[in-house]
Amino acid sequence: MNKSNDRVFSGVQPTGNLHLGNYLGAIKRFVTLQDTHDCIYCVVDLHAITQWQDPAELKNNTREVTAAYLACGIDPAKNIIFNQSQVSGHAELAWIFNCVARMGWLNLMTQFKDKAGKNRENASVGLFCYPNLMAADILLYRADFVPVGEDQKQHMELTRDIATKFNHDFGDRIKELGHGDGYFPITDPLIEGPATRVMSLRDGSKKMSKSDPSDLSRIRMTDDADAIAKKIRKAKTDSDPLPETLEGLAGRSEAENLVGIYAALADTTKEAVISEYAGQPFSVFKPALVELAVEKLSPINDEMRRLMADPAGVDKVLAEGSERAREIADKTIREVKDIVGFLQA
Ligand code: TYM
Repeated sequence: MNKSNDRVFSGVQPTGNLHLGNYLGAIKRFVTLQDTHDCIYCVVDLHAITQWQDPAELKNNTREVTAAYLACGIDPAKNIIFNQSQVSGHAELAWIFNCVARMGWLNLMTQFKDKAGKNRENASVGLFCYPNLMAADILLYRADFVPVGEDQKQHMELTRDIATKFNHDFGDRIKELGHGDGYFPITDPLIEGPATRVMSLRDGSKKMSKSDPSDLSRIRMTDDADAIAKKIRKAKTDSDPLPETLEGLAGRSEAENLVGIYAALADTTKEAVISEYAGQPFSVFKPALVELAVEKLSPINDEMRRLMADPAGVDKVLAEGSERAREIADKTIREVKDIVGFLQA
């Protein structure tokens, strides 16, 4: 397949407990895009430390996200796979964006409010500025598309606002230096498919997350077949059979979630799943979902384990990827410094 020159960038935080939401909402879609786009996939360790991380676990979790990328089928020869802290341009551009983004914009970010909780005064400054760093990740590579789950939509809008304001504030200088009307692209999020918001298996009103205290709420990418089966069997549902149409799922968030998971794993649509299982009780649907989930996730799980047994091999992928990422990033940083007016040798 011919690749377009359009660039894709995305990232996953190495904060442990990688789960089915991360896989279906993001990583599985990264794999598909590698055939058609020029892709850069990052392990965002700078983002991870906005909340305290144990240093040894951070290293291990960085390798685990990398292993997940590789095990899912992202080819490090065709794409760039690296960890953020090895490319200094991310932090440099984030600082410039701290001076472009407005306090008022960041005050609107719901993810900060959720993560900071009641004790906002005690949250790190980094957690507040987190979306500026995310904008820097994307714009450092002047990416055109960013595949993410629905929870990142607001951060993507902020990224577009930052690019627009930078292009506007430095418009004359950008033209003078021959970069045309705008230096940064106005990046589009790709939030598509039946699983852009996978919900907790214990509570259909909460998204599946790494930090939920109940491990039964999520299927981890490292869960074995028994754990996957147990969690799906115990997943909360109502007592009605599956409806005849998609509209019949309205107000049945737990049922809708399992249908979405099935559809994403089977590479089909929720409509197709509903028409196959219309009128069937969960005692039929759940075992079918267990079988599908085990079939799709077990090989990934086995490959992750194999890769994690060779940490030096994983580190090598990141080192090589970082070198290639740095080449692109350094050019952007040089140009941005020139646009902003920093003297450089
Ligand atoms: P993170 O590490 O929380 O999640 C990684 C990816 O998984 C998606 N995701 C979900 N999708 C569906 N259902 C869920 N329950 C679910 N939970 C998580 C997320 O939307 C994300 O796509 N801020 C980002 C990391 C980041 C980034 C970036 C992403 C930093 N810089 C630049 C894209 C581009 C985050 O916290 O992801």
